[in-house]
Amino acid sequence: MDRHTAQLENDRIVQDILRLKEERGATILAHNYQLPEVQDIADLLGDSLELARAAASLDSRVIVFCGVNFMAETAAILSPDKTVLLPAGDACCPMAEMITAEEVRSLRERFPDAAVVCYVNTTAGVKAESDICCTSANAVEVVRSLDEEQVIFVPDRNLARYVARFTDKEILPWEGYCYVHDQYTPEDVRRAKALHPDAEVLVHPECRPEVIDLADYVYSTSGMTRHACSNPGKEYIIGTEVGMLHRLYRECPAAACHPLSERAVCYNMKKTDLAKVHAALATLKPGVVVPEEVAVRARAAIERMLAL
Ligand code: 13P
Ligand code: SF4
Repeated sequence: MDRHTAQLENDRIVQDILRLKEERGATILAHNYQLPEVQDIADLLGDSLELARAAASLDSRVIVFCGVNFMAETAAILSPDKTVLLPAGDACCPMAEMITAEEVRSLRERFPDAAVVCYVNTTAGVKAESDICCTSANAVEVVRSLDEEQVIFVPDRNLARYVARFTDKEILPWEGYCYVHDQYTPEDVRRAKALHPDAEVLVHPECRPEVIDLADYVYSTSGMTRHACSNPGKEYIIGTEVGMLHRLYRECPAAACHPLSERAVCYNMKKTDLAKVHAALATLKPGVVVPEEVAVRARAAIERMLAL
C-alpha cells in the first residue's frame, strides 16, 4: 500500500471509530505509552493514576482501555456496571505477573505486623490481598499515610527502593521489576548527557537506584509532561518508554525531548492499534470482567488510594 492509500485507510478507520464511539456511548482511555495513532484518538491520555480516576468518575456506558490488562481490570473493578474493553486482549504487564495472590498471603504470614502496599501494576487477585494500592505518581504519599512502621511493597523492587528514600519506615520490597525501565544503566545516562549537555534528565521511578541517582527529576509519565510543559524551551532526556515522546512532542512542542534509550519499548503497550480499537467498538469484545468476590476486596485497596 502506498503512503497516500495508507493515509486514506487511516482516515476512514478513524472516522468509523468516532462514529462507533458515539453510537456505543463509549470513552477511549489511553496510556501515555500507546502508539501515536492510538494516543491521537483517545478522549483521555494519562498515567495510571489519572486513568484510574477517570474510570471511577466517567458516566459513559463503555470504556475502551488502550493499555495493558491490569489497567483495564482496575477500570472494571471501579466501574462494575460499565462494559470495559481491552482491544488487545493479550496485552499484559510482565511485572504484574511476577507476584501471585498466594505469595502475598505468605508474606503476610511471615510479617504479620506489616501493611501491604501493591503497585497498581498487579493482578486483581494481588490487589485483593493488599491493604492499599499505589501508582508511580503517589507511592511516597501512600506509604506515608500508613500507621504501620513496616511495609511490604510489591512487586517493583525499584519503586520500593525509591519510596524508601523518603520514609523512615521499614520497606520490604518484592524482587519484581519492569524490563523496560530496569534495563537503563548509568552508562546510558552519561552517554545521553554527553550528547545533550544542557538537557535535564527526567526518569521514571521504575528505574534502578543508580540511574535515579544521576537524574535531575523522578516522575510518573504524566508528571514528566507537566514538568516539560511548565518549563518550555528547555531540553530533556526522557527516561521512560519511548511512547512518551509522542505525547511530549504533541503537548510541549517548545521542549526538545530525547529518549534516554531507543531500546525502551514495552511490547505489550504496542499491541493496540486502530484496527483493534475499531473491532472492539464494533463487537464490544474483548471485555474485561473481574469476579465480584475478588473485585470487592481489590476495590477497597484502590479506593483507599483514591481517597488520599
Ligand atoms: P505511570 O503510572 O507512570 O504511567 O506508569 C505506568 C507504567 O506501566 C510504567 O511502566
Ligand atoms: Fe509493565 Fe514496564 Fe510495560 Fe509498564 S512499561 S506496562 S511496567 S512492562
